[in-house]
Amino acid sequence: MLVKPIGFLAGLAFVSALLAAILFSSHEAPEPSATSTYHLEPKEVHFSFDGPFGKYDRQQLQRGFQVYQEVCSACHSMKMVAFRDLEEIGFTKPEVKAIAKQWKTEVPSINPDTGEPATRKALPTDYIPSPYANEVAARAANNNALPPDMSLLAKAREGGAHYIYSIVTGYQNQPAELLKRFPDAKTPNGLHYNPYFANLNIAMPPPLVADGQVTYADGTKATVDQMAKDASAFLMWAAEPKLESRHRWGLVVVLYLLIATAFAYGAYRNIWRDKKH
Ligand code: HEC
Repeated sequence: MLVKPIGFLAGLAFVSALLAAILFSSHEAPEPSATSTYHLEPKEVHFSFDGPFGKYDRQQLQRGFQVYQEVCSACHSMKMVAFRDLEEIGFTKPEVKAIAKQWKTEVPSINPDTGEPATRKALPTDYIPSPYANEVAARAANNNALPPDMSLLAKAREGGAHYIYSIVTGYQNQPAELLKRFPDAKTPNGLHYNPYFANLNIAMPPPLVADGQVTYADGTKATVDQMAKDASAFLMWAAEPKLESRHRWGLVVVLYLLIATAFAYGAYRNIWRDKKH
């Protein structure tokens, strides 16, 4: 008999606790900071692989590889991509062989006569060699920041290719208004203001600064914007080479489900045809 009032009291206590929490909780918003006020989401750019029907543009991927090879690879490694993978974006076997052989860093090896450590020219089966011997050397050359490996960068960052494009094209002068509101947030020496980077100040100097920095073999005009787009597309392919088959399978599955639904509906109509309901 006591169960009911006890239950009622417990409910009352619960509801009042809830009410108290709602009424007396502090509604103070977090202090605005330079980062929360000025950080920007990646820019809206269109890539051929966006959306469920998206496909890579092989020509663009080859141009993007060229930008990586001639510009980004000075600092960024791509440890999970082998030269022979480049055949997937349309390079021929002899082209891949030549690219590997001419790569600016050689791969570690062993002198067969002395057993001493040595280096040799890269082969198509090698992974793209890193520009630096190790992390210490990489940081020493980059103001103590580490240029991240690019193999999976496009999948590891929200916004993917759009993020990479935005970083590369997003450098600007620090807004005067920011400095007025947050005098302590001045970009430190050796860093560069970039509102697309999480903490607004990036250690990477602008990598693409002039139109024509690379000369494209297919005659495309190498504007900064074009090079940034092509490099971002290439990095997306590197991180997700199977994107197209994933899109294709997605479509097949949706079609299959649609057809299966139509059949199920047909069967339902058939079974209940003579029944009153
Ligand atoms: C001179 C060396 C250098 C070159 C050349 C360079 N980078 Fe960087 N990059 C860096 C460093 C160092 C960082 C790390 C920055 C930091 O942590 O503040 C970085 C970071 C980045 C980031 C941000 C990564 C993250 O963690 O979110 C992107 C995107 C990027 N680089 C793209 C490129 C592209 C694309 C190219 C070629 C067009 C390129 N970089 C060329 C040194 C370089």
